[in-house]
Amino acid sequence: MSLPIAVLISGGGSNLQALIDKVEDGTLDVDIRMVLSNRASAHGLERAKKHSIPTCTLSHKDFSSREEFDGEMVRVLKETGVEAIVLAGFMRIITPVFLGAFPGKIINIHPALLPSFAGAGGQADAAEYGVQISGCTVHFVDEKMDHGAIIIQAAVPATPGEEVQELAKRILQVEHRILPQATKWLAEGRLSVEGRFVKLAAAKVVSSSGSRFEANNDFICLINPPLEEGF
Ligand code: GRF
Repeated sequence: MSLPIAVLISGGGSNLQALIDKVEDGTLDVDIRMVLSNRASAHGLERAKKHSIPTCTLSHKDFSSREEFDGEMVRVLKETGVEAIVLAGFMRIITPVFLGAFPGKIINIHPALLPSFAGAGGQADAAEYGVQISGCTVHFVDEKMDHGAIIIQAAVPATPGEEVQELAKRILQVEHRILPQATKWLAEGRLSVEGRFVKLAAAKVVSSSGSRFEANNDFICLINPPLEEGF
């Protein structure tokens, strides 16, 4: 049976789209039961509707505390029967109320190589710092922001002084590969966590290049664990 999941968004939803595409082409076996946004204007909601995925908008501004907001999200999501949550550009800090409802089943994509540049402006902070390499991280979510155990990371080249949009675009391309891959591992029950360490069961090295280095159009990235076929 496909793992029933919800995807939480706040904006454009290109990572959501990457998940939908992999579900539709048969690479990723999950059932996206709901897309929930805390912003009514999030373009990702349109993407979901186009693919007949139920949506829900809950504005955090309508609640007097983070806990109340999270409690309502849990209520709505539990009604759909979802068992796991993918945070794909969801710009809210979640509380133990939410964490406790889906223990060990919440993952997040962050546009930097954690633990560097946690927080809302990962790409801009890395660009301003002048890094030569940045990237993205998919991790389990815990009570601290951008902190939980790391599932997969991808490193991409940065050019000091370039526009942050250029770096962000490069990172996003790779986000669209590692988030569906990590979601697949979660859905297959192949991830186990011991403290800070995530172990991937039955790792198969079958990326197109046969190595951890991937050519991504005009740049090379290092992805670990390596992507499997289809990603
Ligand atoms: C991505 O960069 C993601 O890593 C970050 O927010 C952005 C969301 O982009 N958390 P999109 O809405 O998926 O296009």
